[in-house]
Amino acid sequence: MENDINKAYELINEASIITVLTGAGISSESGVPIFRGSEGLWNNYRPEELATPKAFFENPGIVWEWYDWRRSVMKKAEPNHGHYALSELERQKDKFTLITQNVDGLHQLAGSDNIIEMHGNLWEIRCTKCNNLEKNYQVPIPELPPKCSKCSEIMRPNIVWFGEIIPMQKIDRCIFAIEESDLFMIIGTSGLVEPAASFGFVAKEHNKTVIEINLDETPGTGLYDLSIKAKSGEVLPLLVDSGNTLN
Ligand code: APR
Repeated sequence: MENDINKAYELINEASIITVLTGAGISSESGVPIFRGSEGLWNNYRPEELATPKAFFENPGIVWEWYDWRRSVMKKAEPNHGHYALSELERQKDKFTLITQNVDGLHQLAGSDNIIEMHGNLWEIRCTKCNNLEKNYQVPIPELPPKCSKCSEIMRPNIVWFGEIIPMQKIDRCIFAIEESDLFMIIGTSGLVEPAASFGFVAKEHNKTVIEINLDETPGTGLYDLSIKAKSGEVLPLLVDSGNTLN
């Protein structure tokens, strides 16, 4: 692995324009549970069962209980060394785009600026009727589901659910960032949820250098230039600052 880390360090050092894709794995060392894996499950529900318009329509209370639980976990979470290393890297490069599937806001807290939040943000809620969008940091939310202050209809998390469409403009921005980059990094995502699951393949189609950092293999692992099997919070600081060492 040491060779791969040295090689990755060189590739990062040489690149002027970097685009990064992150998933739940980068926040796991901050105590935010990942989605896929026994530790990520809530009351034995899979996210594909709860994060859908159908589940919300049938039982908004249970879907909101799940989000209320996730918000309570994330309220206590702080960025880890991986988040901070990426925000440092942004400052060192001519251009840096951070695409995240995470809704926890930890990249912003770590100081990253140029972020595309593909799946929304957990601290925003929006009305199911009039689309009124509000910031909401209450933990727990006193009455579930929360009601709209404008029209009194029920509010939903401002999250892109399974079966819903990410605005095309957002996807275009991601693809553009990948196309214009010298280096694409994929960190802590299982590569099972589209469209982000295809971004690594898009990058390779455009002959980009791709580095993956993940604890496990993913569908793209064999295709990428480097796949580092390690915790992102441990390995990222080594790639951005050569002075640190793995504990
Ligand atoms: N460092 C690196 N990788 C890690 C770490 C870590 N410390 N901890 C876990 N991982 C890896 C896991 O091995 C797994 O491959 O991160 C990946 C997390 O995968 P998922 O839980 O599937 O998360 P993600 O890929 O972000 O899920 C995509 O699915 O449920 C939806 O909308 C939700 O945005 C989410 C999307």
